[in-house]
Amino acid sequence: MHALAPEHCDIDILHKGQTISDFIEDKIKELGSVESEEPFCVANLDSVFKKHLRWLTELPRVKPFYAVKCNNTAAVLKMMSALDTGFDCASKGEIQLALSLGVTPDKIIYAHTTKPLSHIKYACAHGVDMMTFDSEDELLKISLCHAKAKLVLRIAVDDSKSLIRLSSKFGARLVSVGKLLERARELGLEVIGVSFHVGSGCTGSLAFKQAIADARRVFDIANLLGFQMTLLDIGGGFPGRDDLQVKFEEFPEVINGALDEFFPPDSGVQIIAEPGRYYVESAFTLAANVIAKRVILDDTDEHAEENRPDRMMMYYINDGVYGSLNCLINDAAHTKVEPYLQRAVERSEQRHRSVIWGPTCDSTDKVTDSCWIPELHVGDWLLIDNMGAYSVTLSSDFNGFEKAHIYPVMTAETWHALCQVQTSHFCLCRQSVCQMRQLWSHKIVP
Ligand SMILES: Cc1ncc(COP(=O)(O)O)c(C=O)c1O
Repeated sequence: MHALAPEHCDIDILHKGQTISDFIEDKIKELGSVESEEPFCVANLDSVFKKHLRWLTELPRVKPFYAVKCNNTAAVLKMMSALDTGFDCASKGEIQLALSLGVTPDKIIYAHTTKPLSHIKYACAHGVDMMTFDSEDELLKISLCHAKAKLVLRIAVDDSKSLIRLSSKFGARLVSVGKLLERARELGLEVIGVSFHVGSGCTGSLAFKQAIADARRVFDIANLLGFQMTLLDIGGGFPGRDDLQVKFEEFPEVINGALDEFFPPDSGVQIIAEPGRYYVESAFTLAANVIAKRVILDDTDEHAEENRPDRMMMYYINDGVYGSLNCLINDAAHTKVEPYLQRAVERSEQRHRSVIWGPTCDSTDKVTDSCWIPELHVGDWLLIDNMGAYSVTLSSDFNGFEKAHIYPVMTAETWHALCQVQTSHFCLCRQSVCQMRQLWSHKIVP
């Protein structure tokens, strides 16, 4: 258990004027006071909220089903639930988690095409009916243990513009669609729609246009076979940060245009998506502590001195590729990070060639290759932004190093806005409850 983890502490409300940087600074002081230097992440729920408002404005026809696999932090899921999104779950465990947080089964799509039988049975027993498939064998399994399922046929689409390609593993080819639909009918199963995923970390919005056109062809084949499909699921793949070349803003224009062309509003087809990275990537900041340091001298230089300006510095921080920074290895869309010092840095401070390592005994546990940064000292804190996607969820405690504790925060304004949409999904820590009471007593919240 983390030194500062208060039981049931869920979300901190920022004081008026308090920024995320202020919160991190306070947390570091708090940790120092109990002689702890464990790594932690701050989850900025205002950022998730703003992303949602942007989604609603820019993709008004598309209902998001947040992809739990991307980041399953309870506060994030509660936030999404409060915002009335659906959820894309990939397993019994993710369905269990969503249900345990109060999500109703009709808001869940079991979006994995290769499911263990026992997980399908679990979905059936808990009323989760919507699920994807892409093969005859999957249809057979579903017919055996969830005959009332509402099936979504996942098709393979061109994923060549994405950093993480998925179509080699999942999705029926267009040529097999007719046969799969016939088989579903033979088995007495209901097919309600089509899904695709252009791949995660999509770098070209036109991939969506082609995929939506492919989905239209499947709807047409289904119509000819007498199926009345009513759902199109355009998957995930949307960018999660604004500092990269590919920006979210180029996607809505292409997607809205393609939807209006191939699935106009009067088609009666409901459109959903499964965004993961989009919602959470930029919301998380990691704070890691410099726990050790070495100065590397050139063996061949007999006059080498520790204070030479061209010396190489090695720093060891207490989170790495086996912890939150596993995205450096596991997420092809996030192979580089830019740590920066939590303290203010003077422009004039000398930079040194430095390598930053993670804490474990493994030499693959490297955070940055040679980079030029001011000299660090043991006890300094480094911050890394954009740590919300496929990072904390995949973290391990290899070598016995603790996983980063997650502190979800939001401003009172956001909390207030959430309260106005009649939500009570959040459990707050003590000082936040006081602030909430103040809000309530001022009758800001009806
Ligand atoms: C089926 C499915 N849906 C949604 C997602 C989320 O994708 P992204 O995080 O790129 O939005 C993934 C990611 O792999 C996925 O496999």
